Amino acid sequence: MGNCIRRQGDNEDCEGDSHIKGAKERSRGSFGSVLRTIWSKRGCCPQQRSQQSVIKSASSTQFPSIFRYIDGRRYHNDENSKYPLPNDDEEINRLQSQHYLFRHAWGKNYSSPVEEILKAGGACVLDVGCGPATWILEMASEYTSSSFTGIDISPVFPSNIKPRNVQFYQMNVLDGLPFEDNTFDFVYQRFMGLALTEEQWPILLLELVRVTKPGGWIELMECDLQFDNEGPISSRVNKATQMYLKSQGINALICPHVPHLMADIQNLADIEKNQISTPLGQWGDLIGELAKDDIIGLSRSFKPVLFPVFKEMFGDINLDYESIVKEIVDNEVNQYMSSIKSVRFYGKKKITDNINDNTIND
Ligand SMILES: C[S@@+](CC[C@H](N)C(=O)[O-])C[C@H]1O[C@@H](n2cnc3c(N)ncnc32)[C@H](O)[C@@H]1O
Repeated sequence: MGNCIRRQGDNEDCEGDSHIKGAKERSRGSFGSVLRTIWSKRGCCPQQRSQQSVIKSASSTQFPSIFRYIDGRRYHNDENSKYPLPNDDEEINRLQSQHYLFRHAWGKNYSSPVEEILKAGGACVLDVGCGPATWILEMASEYTSSSFTGIDISPVFPSNIKPRNVQFYQMNVLDGLPFEDNTFDFVYQRFMGLALTEEQWPILLLELVRVTKPGGWIELMECDLQFDNEGPISSRVNKATQMYLKSQGINALICPHVPHLMADIQNLADIEKNQISTPLGQWGDLIGELAKDDIIGLSRSFKPVLFPVFKEMFGDINLDYESIVKEIVDNEVNQYMSSIKSVRFYGKKKITDNINDNTIND
């Protein structure tokens, strides 16, 4: 099995921890400097901040932890990421169940027209924010002669026991990807909406397009943080959550903007959007129950950051978070027949000779 990953300015395959060196080399490359310039112009250059935080942590402790803890839940400890959900066993279990929920609901793991190239073998696939890697492991077992690379800010993917056509790297995608231009045939990113500020979206999309081969595909899957047919309590809670995330720069209702963000990228074509609605709660039978479990899990994962904010927003220090969630998922969603919309966006990187095409349209 060939390894399709090549770092910028490298002639050797990328293995082990060398991606860190690759990231530094990449940042000296043309796109790296553009990325850095855009970020520093906006006063939020992650690479610069990252270096500062390493120095700060190293002076306070010899071995800075990659994790931090809030209310017994474990989180990433990267100052350059606003991602608000934990990365502990409870969240990993939720992400795994969520994968099966949406694979069942969609009937397929992806929507881009890549089946032929994956089957033919030799294709290179990147999963950005792969989490516990349920998607990638299934894909790698189905398309055994293609190669799969997963990256995540937290090391929640399997590190030892994995198929031979899979590799994982722990990295923050906001620092830029340490891969050569035109490396992957298919770049996939699912449920990273909570990991990106509105400013970071277009920059990240450019980076995903950069590492995609001409003629290759990019697919993004997202769910907005609101239900279709919301009852009054769900509406209040979801709006409060959206407001909190907005204060962090994160747009929890990003789906309507994604097609425009993709269309703004000069060398992305054939952009498509597919969406489905998944019933939420007992009224939706088995899939509704699975969706309900996912919302309960998501509420639990959000609790350490949201509960203090809710108490202040709702002006109620005795607020009973669990009772509110229970009322929503056991009663309100059935009464209003609420559902969750999930959307897949995909597009093809144009085949062009112009190396300057990886830009945002004016
Ligand atoms: C909601 S989970 C989705 C996981 C997986 N894509 C799935 O669909 O099951 C989001 C994932 O993105 C990862 N993540 C968040 N911010 C990231 C960043 N800046 N760089 C890389 N991964 C990130 C999180 O650690 C988490 O595993």
